[in-house]
Amino acid sequence: MGHSRIVILTGAGVSAESGVPTFRGPDGLWEGHRVEDVATPEAFARDPRLVQTFYDLRRAALAKVEPNPAHLALARLDADWPGDLLLVTQNVDDLHERAGSRRLIHMHGRLKSAWCTACDTRHGWEGALLDWPPCPACGAVGRMRPDIVWFGEMPYDMARIERAVMACDLFVSIGTSGNVYPAAGFVDLAGRAGARTLELNLDPSMASHRFDESRLGPAGVLVPELVAQLLDP
Ligand code: OAD
Repeated sequence: MGHSRIVILTGAGVSAESGVPTFRGPDGLWEGHRVEDVATPEAFARDPRLVQTFYDLRRAALAKVEPNPAHLALARLDADWPGDLLLVTQNVDDLHERAGSRRLIHMHGRLKSAWCTACDTRHGWEGALLDWPPCPACGAVGRMRPDIVWFGEMPYDMARIERAVMACDLFVSIGTSGNVYPAAGFVDLAGRAGARTLELNLDPSMASHRFDESRLGPAGVLVPELVAQLLDP
């Protein structure tokens, strides 16, 4: 396709075929909860046990899922693409890195990381946070929270992401509903900067009309097809 700089944005749809539930199901609930009851700083202040339990369960569930063909194809693209490439995921699961992607930013944080709000350090985390383990760095108790960007908080690495989006030739969005900003605005930023914009999604999304092209179908099929097209044109 003649592109050299690629930015790829992924959302929950890329992990759906691995068995990780998306955020906005048909019932509008995320695993039985309203998003604002588990994914805001206010929810954490009001009911920390509910929020810790919710993310502890999501973290533990990662042991039961595996990367699917979409994650694997993106890892192959990362390994074999000679030009600039950046994979930006809104997902907090670890399936991209387990598939082998390396040029990767988790803009909404990671389940397998815990953040000590006493000394502002982050720690790889596999177990539970509900019982308020002490911070491995400063020893503070009761200050370790999920390293997840909640609504109202600033996503990670925004300056680096926006630089890459504005410099890319091809912007691809995969499996995201286009509801949540700033990620939902990247397509406009890329388009204004002259990139070709492509969406891969199961259903038409909130943002479909803003892309040059939308391909509808499961990520496990569409992503390997795209990667083959890019690597073996
Ligand atoms: P959503 O659940 O809002 O959207 C998932 C999208 O994936 C929908 O458009 C589905 O049609 C599509 N989809 C589902 N299965 C698919 C499949 N097999 N192949 C391709 N597409 C599929 O999830 P996100 O857009 O990722 O933020 O949500 C964005 C953010 O909202 C999340 O990162 C999270 C949430 O609140 C935080 O936790 C901060």
